[in-house]
Amino acid sequence: MPSPLNLSHCVADSLDSGLALNSPSIQEWPTFQPALRLGVMASGNGSNFEAIQASIAANALHADIRLLVVNNQGCGAEQRAQRLNIPCQLWDHRQFETRERLDHALVKAFLQADVELIVMAGWMRIVTPVLIEAFPNRLLNIHPSLLPSFKGLDAVGQALEASVRISGCTAHLVQADVDTGPVIAQAAVPVLPNDSPESLAKRIQAQEHRILPWAIALAGVKWRQSSGIKGS
Ligand code: GAR
Repeated sequence: MPSPLNLSHCVADSLDSGLALNSPSIQEWPTFQPALRLGVMASGNGSNFEAIQASIAANALHADIRLLVVNNQGCGAEQRAQRLNIPCQLWDHRQFETRERLDHALVKAFLQADVELIVMAGWMRIVTPVLIEAFPNRLLNIHPSLLPSFKGLDAVGQALEASVRISGCTAHLVQADVDTGPVIAQAAVPVLPNDSPESLAKRIQAQEHRILPWAIALAGVKWRQSSGIKGS
């Protein structure tokens, strides 16, 4: 029988080796008939966008990314979309007078692409009710902390600054206040004594890539059930 101290080491070790604690646990993936139609929004590197596509390619998430929207020309996400042959549109927020005007353009683009769910996969802009209310309970966000802790920018830096010993990531439905809304899935990782912002962000991102496709599947089941569309 391990002592409590050893047990906590075991937990930290297993979390660090990739056996992260996540809830709800990832079980059998649902099938969608027809496949779930997704829109994705990204501002930067796009690793979460590619993780969604990888889950689809691995026959786990039964979906189809109809459109990626980026707001920064040449960003990693845009380059990944070219390599993966996924339609991508640039909507540069600098070209819009207000957040609402940008969101109106996004709503139009996603409606034209006929998407059911939209995933903010590293979208570093505040969204307005224009977008949120056009896709009620169908707009998801991934955030690198265990919400409601560490909302907003630099969540990883905030966690290190606060000296927390456990952090993680949250996939949630989007509401009007930044980084709020019903949680769909979370994963916890240890914060290790020598962590830099980069090493902790890498550990958290590995878990984002696991829980985000699963959260999309869970939200998709709810959407199909509530919309009366058969086949989820
Ligand atoms: C992700 O870690 C995501 O949680 C974060 O941006 C990163 C994007 O990485 N989002 C936020 O902080 C939103 N509040 P990626 O471009 O490699 O997917």
